[in-house]
Amino acid sequence: MNSPPLDDRDGVIWYNGKLVPWREAKVHVLTHSLHYGNAVFEGARIYNGKVFKLTEHSARLVKSAKMLAYDVPYTVAQLDAATKLVVAENKLEGGYVRPLAWRGPEVIGVSAIGTKVHVMIAAFPWGAYYQQKAIRICTSRWKRPSPESSPAGSKAAGLYIICTLAKDEALAAGYQDALMHDYKDRLSEATGANLFLVLDGELHTPTTETILNGITRQTVMDLARKRGLTVVEREIWPEELARASEVFLTGTAVEVQPVGAIDAREYPVGPVTQQLQSDYAALVRS
Ligand SMILES: Cc1ncc(COP(=O)(O)O)c(C=O)c1O
Repeated sequence: MNSPPLDDRDGVIWYNGKLVPWREAKVHVLTHSLHYGNAVFEGARIYNGKVFKLTEHSARLVKSAKMLAYDVPYTVAQLDAATKLVVAENKLEGGYVRPLAWRGPEVIGVSAIGTKVHVMIAAFPWGAYYQQKAIRICTSRWKRPSPESSPAGSKAAGLYIICTLAKDEALAAGYQDALMHDYKDRLSEATGANLFLVLDGELHTPTTETILNGITRQTVMDLARKRGLTVVEREIWPEELARASEVFLTGTAVEVQPVGAIDAREYPVGPVTQQLQSDYAALVRS
């Protein structure tokens, strides 16, 4: 059975400082961000009624907007409090939080000067991102742009155009996700998650030049170091996939997700992935 569409649910959404009934949280069709892609958003998970790394997510929302030259009209502390309120009001023990900031319908041109900034925070149940224990992913034809062409560190709606294209092409080809290269043809990230390879017993992950520097990525690097693993952030080239003994993805939604294959090459769900998967599962519930 399909779950009801996201605009037709019970509960409340935090909208510009107030809790509004779920079905009434709407925007006008001439909203600037709808036309020009400059909304910014977050995705956080709720475990045992608490939002994991809440302040980091609130801070990134503010930073993402700053990178697109606007200010979220709430402090990080206010966003944290609003998120806690919306999780409690919707009586969620587990699930997902989706904050969004966007520019309003005051002007229609490319310039956004003169628009008001709006913020909403929605929270809802959401289970595992993938159904598979280990996913199969394919190399996308879409490349992460150079930092001169896009604000890579911003979780900006417009940057997800290529993620959605890459993901839907992968699904149509029978894979669960896509791996994007970057503008120099180095490995970068999946469509909503960061990439890790195990190489000679060390953990290797691409630098942050063209990716979103995931909060889960940083958490998992810390967990790996605590286990005594060497963690290396560097440029990684596609040929190196042949040498990897394990591959996994990290992200708020996907958590620590084993990759069982990239294109035709297969990988086992190895000991490093399993260890970090269980360390992460324990940490988010602690
Ligand atoms: C493109 C992209 N990369 C990486 C991530 C992982 O980020 P985080 O661990 O902060 O959820 C996400 C998810 O937000 C994403 O959309």
